[in-house]
Amino acid sequence: MSDQKKILITGGAGFIGSHVVRLFVNKYPDYQIYNLDALTYAGNLENLKDIESAENYHFIKADIVDAHQINQLFGEHRFDSVIHLAAESHVDRSITDPLAFVRTNVIGTVNLLNAFRDTWKDNFEGKLFYHISTDEVYGTLGETGLFEETTAYDPNSPYSASKASSDHFVRAYGETYGLPHVVTNCSNNYGPNQFPEKLIPLFIHNIKTNKSLPVYGDGKYTRDWLYVIDHARAIDLVFHEGKEGETYNIGGFNEWQNIELIRVLIKQMDEKLGRPAGESEKLITYVKDRPGHDRRYAIDANKIKNELGWEPSVTFEEGLSETIDWYLENEEWLQNVTSGDYQKYYEGMYAGR
Ligand code: NAD
Ligand code: DAU
Repeated sequence: MSDQKKILITGGAGFIGSHVVRLFVNKYPDYQIYNLDALTYAGNLENLKDIESAENYHFIKADIVDAHQINQLFGEHRFDSVIHLAAESHVDRSITDPLAFVRTNVIGTVNLLNAFRDTWKDNFEGKLFYHISTDEVYGTLGETGLFEETTAYDPNSPYSASKASSDHFVRAYGETYGLPHVVTNCSNNYGPNQFPEKLIPLFIHNIKTNKSLPVYGDGKYTRDWLYVIDHARAIDLVFHEGKEGETYNIGGFNEWQNIELIRVLIKQMDEKLGRPAGESEKLITYVKDRPGHDRRYAIDANKIKNELGWEPSVTFEEGLSETIDWYLENEEWLQNVTSGDYQKYYEGMYAGR
């Protein structure tokens, strides 16, 4: 879709963003990649150590909530395209502090849209604003059915409400100002570099250190899981070949009830840690449920599969094994991100459960 060369990737120091930045920097030496990130608790430049001195890579520390700063940066660099991942991304945090999610996810997105529109409004030819969203905007499913691109939005958490709002703004800018855009809504990602507040890295860490595994509610909540590298591959494809104005769902064709996923994780970890099979099951602890907890997400990813030829490249067992190995081999990364403020967050979040 776009062959432009000056690409702004927001949130590139975070989990998914760092994999997208790496892929683009390595695969497209002719593109200049600008990683804009505020380096919140979730942003970590260590994620990009291997490419930080590449000639086509540039880091900008900036906050998308600061309209003045964003306008200045667009004035200076005139980015041809934006791949927008920067967000507050953790549902539990959104329940504690919804406004932080409104600021970054809604106002931050509108600031980027304004700056992009004002830079190119006289000629949008060859420009693209690619907004990265989530399947959570569709709300929750019963035991059957799948989210399709035409499923009505019905968000249930402050996080998903803020993402839904940002999606609407992107489409509204398309209708109102003719701003060229594409949106993808992806399911749960897992893989290296994910902050250990999310289920899989948190549980890997807790199994390793023999801490309890806090399973929310009855543990029968269902998610569709996708290896982060496959999400980055999909983003590359949609950026280059997606149809302007379209939405694509991205998913792993890989549904798991939380408790079943946790058992697979325990099985793999006990093997890798040399523990007797099933030993770590004793760490499973059912705790108070997440308020407004969506029962089931499941994505129909056939549009991107049929129209663009994308599908996941690894099985869940393979991806999970790679992920565990990465966390076991990167103890220092984990130590660095779980010190200080994170300790306080962890104690606060799980104390009342
Ligand atoms: P993350 O929390 O790991 O990273 C978010 C990044 O955004 C961090 O580097 C952070 O420093 C940066 N950031 C936050 N606020 C900012 C601000 N105001 N200005 C500039 N930078 C800011 O998130 P993630 O899991 O990598 O998710 C990335 C995107 O993908 C998000 O938009 C999220 O909604 C979406 N998404 C995530 C998943 C998932 O399973 N993690 C699934 C589907 C969609
Ligand atoms: O579906 C895409 C979304 O997936 C993304 O948009 C979000 O950014 C991402 O955080 C993720 O949201 P979830 O809420 O599904 O992910 P999380 O890892 O927080 O939780 C996964 C499931 O595990 C969910 O049903 C809640 C449950 N859970 C989570 C934690 C952290 C537990 O049972 N215990 C826990 O301690």
